[in-house]
Amino acid sequence: MRYRGELRALPRRRTGGATEPDKYMLEHAEKRPRELGRTDIELRRAAAEEMAFEDGSFDTVVSCLVFCHVGDDAPKALGHIQRLLKPGGTFRFMEHVRNDESGFGRNFQDFVNPVWKRLLGAGCNCNRRTQQAIEDAGFGIDWVKRQKTFPPTSPVIYGVARTG
Ligand SMILES: C[S@@+](CC[C@H](N)C(=O)[O-])C[C@H]1O[C@@H](n2cnc3c(N)ncnc32)[C@H](O)[C@@H]1O
Repeated sequence: MRYRGELRALPRRRTGGATEPDKYMLEHAEKRPRELGRTDIELRRAAAEEMAFEDGSFDTVVSCLVFCHVGDDAPKALGHIQRLLKPGGTFRFMEHVRNDESGFGRNFQDFVNPVWKRLLGAGCNCNRRTQQAIEDAGFGIDWVKRQKTFPPTSPVIYGVARTG
């Protein structure tokens, strides 16, 4: 199911761009526009903190389970997203985040994260405060929903943020 949701979220009759830094995952992602019959989506090999599209190129930017991998470069990546969006553009996200509702859940995430990141999550951090990072980057949150899933990647946040 990888990349299906993000690419489906792009409205038809609008051109779109997507980035993925990993060669294997990029090859995998390239199948999705074909499956969806989309010839108007440009895929580039780049990290979120290195996106080289023009300023104000997009009405909407979508991230799905990406900021757990971006890690400490989240402010830089979010700065790029601000730059890429047209005024009033929206950033739509689905990310698993730090469990700030539960001391046990949070401590468990911190405990397992070094192993999770190296062995199981392939660079994924299970304890990132991504909503906080989005707000700190100057986005206004239109709405956000938190949903419990399975530890250690619980909760997941779904939301829409707007450029300031
Ligand atoms: C859990 S997968 C999610 C893939 C896809 N977004 C999806 O929902 O199917 C995380 C992806 O983030 C990519 N990634 C790792 N570091 C990244 C970075 N700095 N910027 C953007 N993507 C990154 C990984 O290569 C991997 O493909």
